[in-house]
Amino acid sequence: MPSRIAIMISGRGSNMLALIDAVADGRIPDAEIALVVSDRADAAGVALAEARGVRTVVVERGMTTRPTHQARFVNVLLEHKINLVCLAGFMRLLSPVFIESFRGRILNIHPSLLPAFPGLNPHRQAIEYGVRISGCTVHFVDETIDGGCVIEQRAVPVFDGDTEESLAARILIEEHKIYPQAVARIVQGHYKLEGRRVIQIDARLESSV
Ligand code: GRF
Repeated sequence: MPSRIAIMISGRGSNMLALIDAVADGRIPDAEIALVVSDRADAAGVALAEARGVRTVVVERGMTTRPTHQARFVNVLLEHKINLVCLAGFMRLLSPVFIESFRGRILNIHPSLLPAFPGLNPHRQAIEYGVRISGCTVHFVDETIDGGCVIEQRAVPVFDGDTEESLAARILIEEHKIYPQAVARIVQGHYKLEGRRVIQIDARLESSV
């Protein structure tokens, strides 16, 4: 059975498209993008997903409480028999109930080399701190803010003339490469956890055992 992936977005959706493309051209094998979930009807990514023929569901919070809103997300994901949740610019913190429902099956991409610069405005944080290297991280989601186990990272230089926008654009190019790679590794089960370490298992070695 192919993995049924849901991508959760709040905005532009460029990482979402990178994942949709990677599934379409076989870089993420044995998987389908079953659903795109947005917490905003006006997220540009919703229209982009629909244009690619991917089913979309919008779950706006409206006047509901946070627990009710989060329960709706969980119900939508369960209804669609989702095995893996990929956050891609999803701007809400997940509740403990949500995380528990999909423990070890929620991934996120963050535009910094975690554990540096978690949370909001990571590009601004990196420039203001004065680091010469930043980058991006794909990680498992747990109850902490951007603190789950690291799956994949890519470094990117920070230049003296950088603005938040120029740094974000340089990092985004690498995000679009490492997110599909990380998702492929996870759906194929080519990893094992040792403490916090997500150890890569070489598929060729595995098949020769
Ligand atoms: C990306 O930089 C991602 O790392 C962060 O939010 C941004 C979303 O961009 N979590 P997009 O919607 O994927 O274009």
